[in-house]
Amino acid sequence: MAKRIDAVDLNVYYGSFLAVQDVNIRIEPRAVTAFIGPSGCGKTTFLRTINRMHEVLPGAYADGKILLDGDNIYDAGVDPVTIRAEVGMVFQRPNPFPTMSIRENVLAGYKLNGTRLSKSDADAILEKSLRGANLWNEVKDRLDKPGSGLSGGQQQRLCIARTVAVEPSVILMDEPCSALDPISTLAVEDLINQLKEDYTVVIVTHNMQQAARVADKTAFFNIQGTGQPGQLIEYADTKTIFQNPENEQTLNYISGRFG
Ligand SMILES: Nc1ncnc2c1ncn2[C@@H]1O[C@H](COP(=O)(O)OP(=O)(O)OP(=O)(O)O)[C@@H](O)[C@H]1O
Ligand SMILES: [Mg+2]
Repeated sequence: MAKRIDAVDLNVYYGSFLAVQDVNIRIEPRAVTAFIGPSGCGKTTFLRTINRMHEVLPGAYADGKILLDGDNIYDAGVDPVTIRAEVGMVFQRPNPFPTMSIRENVLAGYKLNGTRLSKSDADAILEKSLRGANLWNEVKDRLDKPGSGLSGGQQQRLCIARTVAVEPSVILMDEPCSALDPISTLAVEDLINQLKEDYTVVIVTHNMQQAARVADKTAFFNIQGTGQPGQLIEYADTKTIFQNPENEQTLNYISGRFG
């Protein structure tokens, strides 16, 4: 299931503005990779190129390659909708569909792509996904109640269940805990640890303790000034990034001396 991601000579634009420059990185399957760096350095922008979400904005595009187990997702003829199913995304704020029940939320991906499921298949996917998101025990007696009635942390796990329900290879998470309290954050971090057994997981976080807790590898991005493009500065095992980085910019950032 889990696939390797390679970005090759990737440049990402909003119209004529180069937001992210020349990224080359190999992201390993069955591991958690964290993206860290100051606001505006392009973490979200780069993340959204990995499932072809970036290009939905008018004028936004990327050049270079993103390879999923060697296949370029930007090749002519590749359907972005297929890529978005294979590379799932969890957003900063939990965004369950407010009018849908917990059950409908988890199965929403199937409804959206027009797949009809038998009742028994749907029930099996529902339970497996909610168990996979560490949420089953908390919601199994209220599956037909609205998803919006859950706590913030439960809603975020519901969104993760919705993402894993369609069996992606990769899960991208953009600051998934930034709207959560510390207890819910730990629950989601536990879950991220489990998810890496089956998926390639990429997480953007501003919380360095979180990166240190959950990530096997960490990529530090930076910008040299306003209007300049974001660049990948250093990429290594998380321990190396936090304890013994090679680049002075990384050291300044992780030690809070960022100017
Ligand atoms: N829709 C957009 N149109 C034009 N420029 C954009 C757009 N979204 C982001 N940018 C610009 O692209 C650059 C990178 O932004 P991005 O949101 O990727 O940064 P980030 O590292 O995710 O920051 P943060 O930590 O604040 O979330 C910034 O200069 C930003 O202003
Ligand atoms: Mg961002």
